[in-house]
Amino acid sequence: MLPLLFLLLSAAYPVLGQEKACTALPATISYAANPKLPDPFLLIGGTRLTEKGQWLCRKEEIRQLFQRYSYGKLPPKPSSVTASISGNSLKITVTDGGKSMSFSVSIKLPSSGSAPFPAIIAYGGSSLPIPNTVATITYQNFDMAADNGRGKGKFYDLYGSSHNAGGMIAAAWGVDRIIDALELTPGAQINPKRVGVTGCSRNGKGSMIAGAFVDRIALALPQEGGQSAAGCWRIADEIQKNGTKVETAHQIVNGDTWFSTDFPKYVDAVPTLPWDNHMLHALYAYPPRGLLIIENTAIDYLGPTSNYHCATAGRKVHEALGVKDYFGFSQNTHSDHCGFPKAQQPELTAFIDRFLLEKDTKTDFWKTDGKWPIDEKRWIDWNTPTLS
Ligand SMILES: *[C@@H]1O[C@H](CO)[C@@H](O)[C@H](O)[C@H]1NC(C)=O
Repeated sequence: MLPLLFLLLSAAYPVLGQEKACTALPATISYAANPKLPDPFLLIGGTRLTEKGQWLCRKEEIRQLFQRYSYGKLPPKPSSVTASISGNSLKITVTDGGKSMSFSVSIKLPSSGSAPFPAIIAYGGSSLPIPNTVATITYQNFDMAADNGRGKGKFYDLYGSSHNAGGMIAAAWGVDRIIDALELTPGAQINPKRVGVTGCSRNGKGSMIAGAFVDRIALALPQEGGQSAAGCWRIADEIQKNGTKVETAHQIVNGDTWFSTDFPKYVDAVPTLPWDNHMLHALYAYPPRGLLIIENTAIDYLGPTSNYHCATAGRKVHEALGVKDYFGFSQNTHSDHCGFPKAQQPELTAFIDRFLLEKDTKTDFWKTDGKWPIDEKRWIDWNTPTLS
């Protein structure tokens, strides 16, 4: 707990109260079927938060819930990480449990500004325009966790092919190691405190999950990830029931290795999950990091109304903790999946300026051009508490 306390004491934003003793998540959780989005302010034991400091316990519960039900286990910090830079390639060697593996990322330094530079880790390369003041770190996340076959990739070389982690959390673990390496390697010329993450579509989910679990990520820019990035499983199920094809939990475990080996047990009983993906957004609320969800209203399969309403629910936690403007949402109609329309440039620039370039920029963006009825109460039956 020492690093966390140190972080709390040294943070520039309002710190939460004294950390409370947290209760471990019970081995079995029974949650009565709930068609609405579960209350993010309610601890599993039934206590509702009244103080900001209690969020630290709730946050840890949420991290555990996602790992237990959906993503699989995120291993603790490995016993050793070493790194070396050669040209534009940063080689990272990780040792744990007596085994070692190495992987590399490529770094493209910006053409302007001065070292150490801010950077964006791009899953498979960025489909967003990255300004010439920010470095791009290209992360071949499918080398870490293969998309074609469970248990394959560098993560599984280290932790075993039968590890229950799906590709999403395995790749997030890799992002954590990239930051370790940047901290260890001043020669890489990157400021490890100003690192963002992005990806689109399947990698929109991946980058969202990485930023949620890796607190050292200063900004996440998940693009067109749909459900499990912006959107909630409950809302997706209703869209599907209403006759529009969308990516549901039931569908996503078919053939894909993105989620844990345990998730298929739950996908046909989504209302009994004690969580939904708005809580993934809430993981960004403390320590507060920038999050800009970039979505597309023109592609039904992305579940635009789910994305909007789910993010609206997630942001209530930011609101309660006084950091609402750290979380932006932008949804625009365009036909090309993973294209980036000019209409979304102002919010992208603002988020990069504030969270990576440390400028005093306003980031209060909540935009959609969707034509569906906006109805928060349809999904949210809890209020946003005033936390002391
Ligand atoms: C599903 O259809 C009902 C009835 O038209 C509507 O009220 C509801 O908003 C729809 N749900 C979604 C998620 O679009």
